[in-house]
Amino acid sequence: MAMFLPATFIFCLLIPFTVSQDISAIFAFGDSTIDAGNNDYITTWLRSNHVPYGRDLTEVPVPTGRFSNGKLITDFLVSALGLKSLLPAYLDPMITDLDLLTGVSFASAGSGFDDRTTTTDNVIKMSKQIQYFEECVERIRRVRGAVEAIRVVNDAVFVISAGTNDMLWNFYDLPTREVEFTVSGYHDFLLNNLIDLVQKIYKMGGRKITIAGLPPVGCLPLQMFAGDIVSNTSKLRRPICINGQNEDAKAYNIKLQGLITSMQASHSDSKILYVDIFNPLMDMIQNPKKYGFEDTTRGCCGTGLVEMAAMCNSLSVTCRNASNFLFWDAIHPTQSAYQALAFHALETVFPLLE
Ligand SMILES: *[C@@H]1O[C@H](CO)[C@@H](O)[C@H](O)[C@H]1NC(C)=O
Ligand SMILES: *[C@@H]1O[C@H](CO)[C@@H](O)[C@H](O)[C@H]1NC(C)=O
Repeated sequence: MAMFLPATFIFCLLIPFTVSQDISAIFAFGDSTIDAGNNDYITTWLRSNHVPYGRDLTEVPVPTGRFSNGKLITDFLVSALGLKSLLPAYLDPMITDLDLLTGVSFASAGSGFDDRTTTTDNVIKMSKQIQYFEECVERIRRVRGAVEAIRVVNDAVFVISAGTNDMLWNFYDLPTREVEFTVSGYHDFLLNNLIDLVQKIYKMGGRKITIAGLPPVGCLPLQMFAGDIVSNTSKLRRPICINGQNEDAKAYNIKLQGLITSMQASHSDSKILYVDIFNPLMDMIQNPKKYGFEDTTRGCCGTGLVEMAAMCNSLSVTCRNASNFLFWDAIHPTQSAYQALAFHALETVFPLLE
């Protein structure tokens, strides 16, 4: 029988040799995949600052608002870069001006590139996330001066991760945009908003910008479950990824990569890079044992088919060991899956930021 090294072991072994030391900070924009708890400080139902969320986050004794059992990708990135152990939420009142020097997350669970997505859940839209970033740079300027502030921004890595909520809440599950757009037209609309965001970051001095593509949306437990109800073909069938939604995600990712190539060509003093989330997640689904996963089709929390945010709570029965699951709730990966994604990005994307 083949022996598989645990992902953690490979991660610790290789990372110190692959990452650059001159990255000043990480600034994150997007959705729940990188929101460290900003939604705790706004009025929205989309929160996860309650048990069992965060149960494996040993650094903090209470649930922080991260939509997982532990760390997010951005937490693994800042710790691998030696910046700090966790990337905090900008709206956390405990964050000091000095904390800003090594980065914060402006991301908000439920957010997307389409303002209609954020309005539905009353979360922080991208234009507001950028405003918070401007405010953040102003705070750095006040404590460290203009020259140092621009150095921090120049040497920071920007992480943009969004788009899934736009597809879920405006196209598939609540098809409000479907009447206005074809799927390809909607992708273009989202990517035009992404161009605005990248240009704003560039104008503020950002020169290392990484942009995540879409995951295999049709393999999210919630989507597979909804697909089962709609198709009504069988009851206790083994969940199957919704191929059409995965094909849409692939089409979006191809467009995004083309867009990144052209943005890179017109910003030669910068690095603008694509972060592949799709293929690493598909590898986890197709080769679960390699990652220590026993189940990749449902979340650890509750039935794992529908629960997230308020529905995943202290009354939910949870799996014993979240490390054996790809998904923590019906949408969000576990810390183990995030660790593998972070490792993949550190190995494939970060060396290109030099
Ligand atoms: C859905 O399932 C129910 C119960 O098994 C069945 O009676 C019904 O005909 C199905 N509907 C469709 C559209 O397949
Ligand atoms: C949880 O599962 C992981 C991966 O299979 C394993 O390494 C770890 O020892 C398990 N933890 C517990 C407490 O059983």
